[in-house]
Amino acid sequence: MAAYEYETHTYDVVVVGAGGAGLRATLGMAEQGLRTACISKVFPTRSHTVAAQGGIAASLGNMGPDSWQWHMFDTIKGSDWLGDMDTMEYVAREAPKAVYELEHYGVPFSRNEEGQIYQRPFGGHTTEYGDGVPVQRVCAAADRTGHAILHTLYGQSLKQKAEFYIEYFAIDLIMSEDGRCTGVVAWKLDDGTMHVFSAKMVVLATGGYGRAYFSATSAHTCTGDGNGMVARAGLPLQDMEFVQFHPTGIYGAGCLITEGARGEGGYLTNSEGERFMERYAPTFKDLASRDVVSRCMTIEIREGRGVGPNKDHIHLNLNHLPREMLAERLPGISESARIFSGVDVNKAPIPVLPTVHYNMGGIPTNYWGEVLNPTADNPDAVVPGLMAAGEAACASLHGANRLGANSLIDLVVLGRAASIQAGRVVSPDSPNPPLNPAQIDRAFDRFDGLRHAKGTVGTAELRLEMQKTMQADAAVFRTSKTLAEGVDKMTAVAAKVDDLAVSDRSLIWNSDLMETLELTNLMPNALATIVAAEARKESRGAHAHEDFPDRDDVNWRKHSLAHVDGNKVSLSYRPVHTDPLTSEAEGGIALKKIAPKKRVY
Ligand code: FUM
Repeated sequence: MAAYEYETHTYDVVVVGAGGAGLRATLGMAEQGLRTACISKVFPTRSHTVAAQGGIAASLGNMGPDSWQWHMFDTIKGSDWLGDMDTMEYVAREAPKAVYELEHYGVPFSRNEEGQIYQRPFGGHTTEYGDGVPVQRVCAAADRTGHAILHTLYGQSLKQKAEFYIEYFAIDLIMSEDGRCTGVVAWKLDDGTMHVFSAKMVVLATGGYGRAYFSATSAHTCTGDGNGMVARAGLPLQDMEFVQFHPTGIYGAGCLITEGARGEGGYLTNSEGERFMERYAPTFKDLASRDVVSRCMTIEIREGRGVGPNKDHIHLNLNHLPREMLAERLPGISESARIFSGVDVNKAPIPVLPTVHYNMGGIPTNYWGEVLNPTADNPDAVVPGLMAAGEAACASLHGANRLGANSLIDLVVLGRAASIQAGRVVSPDSPNPPLNPAQIDRAFDRFDGLRHAKGTVGTAELRLEMQKTMQADAAVFRTSKTLAEGVDKMTAVAAKVDDLAVSDRSLIWNSDLMETLELTNLMPNALATIVAAEARKESRGAHAHEDFPDRDDVNWRKHSLAHVDGNKVSLSYRPVHTDPLTSEAEGGIALKKIAPKKRVY
């Protein structure tokens, strides 16, 4: 058994992760007087939310008619009817309030002529339950909306005396014998000390796992750490087969060019100069939902109409738009295009390619953020003491496909909801539950085993093998053959974790060890993704299965649950919540509006 000395910290709530969801939860907890700690492996304002560009969706109606019911409908349709209706209603209803709260906290939103928050069009956001014109629903701070939100929430959290543990890497959850989460074990990166956090509530807000793929818009820190901890605690991951490809990653570099670029009038062309989206989505064209646009781009390339010497990418045209508008509303992507593709957006199109961007799947939760561990008797059974929010979680707001700008609203509405629920279930006056020493030892043993790993495969080498496998076999289009091969390859890749070699044994700023820990978190995410994808014999949202091209609501309108143990995955399923929170008579959405139908844009 590995012996590490550690310091114990005791809080009401410990939030792991300081992106938009983590900070919004932290702020809400601290505002209620709960003793709150936020642990982050990076400085809070370097969390990946800082890279969110185009905006945050809320039906403010500042630029034309809009309603929360339209927003809810668009989210349901975007999800390809896999999202949970209660979550989708809650978020669409609460979104305007959450955005005005952000404004009052100090987020410097761009303004329209009337001085109200500026809103732009985004893919899949419509009027009249999809029958009207595109709506301007996405509230923006130029094309740096995530940056503005993150800085504001961090400042507000400090003002509320939340305590931050910065550059602490969370290793594992501490679970009690009876299945309650009681805390987390962490390693302080800059001095090598070990820390045990005792909490009445742990909130995982650790982001997505985009780095399981070779080319992603996600930061290198997006390694699914919370999902990895949950999998090791014997809890399931939900809907992992649904991975979003953003249509416009910069070709080669993978950096994001916001969908706001198309919202402001940009359009895609193929090698014939054709605006091909008009053919595939005659009504919404370039503003169809992301999964649709990514598939159309891929088809254009596959059929030989890609641009460039290798005909392997697509052009995004902004050069017809006014120079002043680009400078005011899209300054960030103008700079990214120049730096990463050498393009002056005023003069030439940007080379783009669908790039991994978002994980619809993650830790199953209800819309209050409580983590679920479904049983045969109760598909909504809650894990006491554990919550998740943001991209790490699967609430399920996004179902099989997320609409652009519904991520930032997910972070703030559901991060806030987690704090509301914690305020109900956490009593500041009660003692913390006891910590299970065997679980602390288990975390240190795992850490120590990796620190002294003497195998034959380097971390970077194994990570690359995983990324290349996922990129090739769990891509925009999938077939039974590629998925079956992918499962075999990923099972073999994941087995090599036991043969890792770590060369640096120190405890201070040991990036070799940290990347190894991250790889052990990425691996269960990758494995669950490809196994759940292989099992799902239909096409829905981001899961485009060429051998099963239709959606099959009879057999497959259900959430997948993946338990990962080493390199083995076992799958089960739980029902989708098909009932909204309020009836039509109470002002809710009419049931006939949300009945499943063919998804066309
Ligand atoms: O295109 C974008 O600005 C990305 C937004 C999002 O993923 O929500």
